[in-house]
Amino acid sequence: MAVTAVVGAQWGDEGKGRVVDWLGQRADMVIRFQGGDNAGHTVINDYGLFKLHMVPSGIFNRDTVCIVGTGCVVNPDGLLKELAEVEAAGVSTDNLWLSTRAHVVLPYHIALDGMQEKKRASDQQIGTTKRGIGPAYTDKASRRGIRLGDLRRPTWLRQRVAQALTHANERLAAFDQPPFELEEVLALCEKWNRAIGHRIVDTMPLVRTAVRAKQNVLLEGQLGVMRDLDWGIYPYVTSSNPTAAYAAAGAGLPANEITRVIGVVKAYSTSVGGGPFPCELHDDVGQQLRDVGKEYGATTGRPRRCGWFDGVAISYAAWLNGFTGLAVTKLDVLDDFDEIKLCTAYKLDGEVLTQVPDTVDQERCEPIYETWPGWNEPTVDARRWDDLPKAARALLHRISELAGVQIDFISVGPERERLVVMDPAKEQDNS
Ligand code: GDP
Ligand code: IMO
Ligand code: MG
Repeated sequence: MAVTAVVGAQWGDEGKGRVVDWLGQRADMVIRFQGGDNAGHTVINDYGLFKLHMVPSGIFNRDTVCIVGTGCVVNPDGLLKELAEVEAAGVSTDNLWLSTRAHVVLPYHIALDGMQEKKRASDQQIGTTKRGIGPAYTDKASRRGIRLGDLRRPTWLRQRVAQALTHANERLAAFDQPPFELEEVLALCEKWNRAIGHRIVDTMPLVRTAVRAKQNVLLEGQLGVMRDLDWGIYPYVTSSNPTAAYAAAGAGLPANEITRVIGVVKAYSTSVGGGPFPCELHDDVGQQLRDVGKEYGATTGRPRRCGWFDGVAISYAAWLNGFTGLAVTKLDVLDDFDEIKLCTAYKLDGEVLTQVPDTVDQERCEPIYETWPGWNEPTVDARRWDDLPKAARALLHRISELAGVQIDFISVGPERERLVVMDPAKEQDNS
């Protein structure tokens, strides 16, 4: 069976957790390949409702090996809290492993994230999740990061933390913030090693064995392409690469082993945080999308910015990720709209654009919409394509056309079973 990457096709929160939870029922391995606990992946299944931040969404299948991959940054305190929550619901976490090479988010990263954001001009705020993600990846790139494997080597760890702390404390002093003490940070690391040290392993052999045995491996992305460090709305981006190309590096397998890439995409658009968002609606329609779709951040609780589906962004996402199929989510949120709009192009300085321009120009883009009829009937019970109202199928056809990609799944509710599977036989074969 194939290695499948499941990635966000928009600005994040597309429903990746929900899709990975469904696919995870047949997965042998699920690997989170980038990001940290800035992620909020909502899963609703027989165990309850979970907002997963660091734990892969395959955790609910007892037979699945779950891995927090090398491309991730891990806050052990957050992870421990999350493990406790999941275990309290009766879910085993015995099969969760953490890459020795993944980086650690330390308290000074979190402090710096908050200070840096505070010092940005109000119109330049990224609106980070304040989880220390940017500073942790900065340290990684600057080669002063602390890796999970370092927690298990006290002498080496002391040298590494001492070096990292000198820099962090200088930065904090520039913000008039108190320094972190070396011994305190080391004590914290020791505590973490006691709590999660047994899970920290070289994950490469595990992944290689699974891939060589043709097992069903899922690579779970965080956020979405429009907040990708290279291809998103820089600088209003995260500090890692949510696109499928990074899945191989972040998980630790050859790129050409990935044969399926599922782009998870809402039937409308949402974004949380700063930066351009061409289809944003500031009117009652935007509010209706937010209310019906319960569009509030899974990690920060912030109201999400809402708007109609962006066909320009999806075509960009499809190219950059090489989607083999889409999982269109939250179709049910559109059930009660008399008419539904799709953005097919942007207007900029009198020109019609069908490609995503760079950030500053995106701020000035105006969406050009097509209007489609609504269906005014519930879709939550649809399980097959033919169960969907004709107008919904027409809209989905158009979304698929704008992406240039077939649809593999249509989600009509947040719960695991509320899913239209386009080709059930193929999904069966894929396991
Ligand atoms: P992720 O970060 O991509 O995993 O997405 P989030 O969990 O942050 O946000 C998606 C939200 O939509 C969550 O509250 C899900 O429970 C919910 N959701 C996912 N799919 C559907 C769907 O098809 N219909 C509805 N109504 N809600 C959905
Ligand atoms: P999931 O995985 C939505 C946004 C923040 C901010 C920018 C950078 O649930 O889709 P960061 O804390 O990463 O430095 O913030 O990215 N952001 C998300 N938006 N969903 C997420 O994760 C997000 N993770 C970060 O709002 O604009
Ligand atoms: Mg989310």
